[in-house]
Amino acid sequence: AFVVTENCIKCKYTDCVEVCPVDCFYEGPNFLVIHPDECIDCALCEPECPAEAIFEEDDVPAGQEEFVQLNAELAEVWPNISERKEPLSDAEDWDGKSDKLQYLER
Ligand code: SF4
Ligand code: F3S
Repeated sequence: AFVVTENCIKCKYTDCVEVCPVDCFYEGPNFLVIHPDECIDCALCEPECPAEAIFEEDDVPAGQEEFVQLNAELAEVWPNISERKEPLSDAEDWDGKSDKLQYLER
């Protein structure tokens, strides 16, 4: 399955949800996750993310391995999102910042 990683936090551009053929994105206050059991590995979302936050689970950047489990866990509790919406207002300021996991809201 594909996984949303750290750089989505505080950006949440949502371009990804528009292209997912099985609508397997789930939305929290400042982050999105992919349900690993619903993702069909089509890879369509990966190039759509302006923050380049989406990776195949075996290919997540070093140090971000915990996002695999985080996607699985949060996809069970957050609501589904299938339509694009406005990014968070200061998305551009946060795009590319490091150590954003501490700001994840649940
Ligand atoms: Fe959806 Fe395909 Fe991305 Fe999986 S890889 S989340 S099925 S768009
Ligand atoms: Fe997040 Fe990128 Fe989607 S920033 S909401 S994974 S387009």
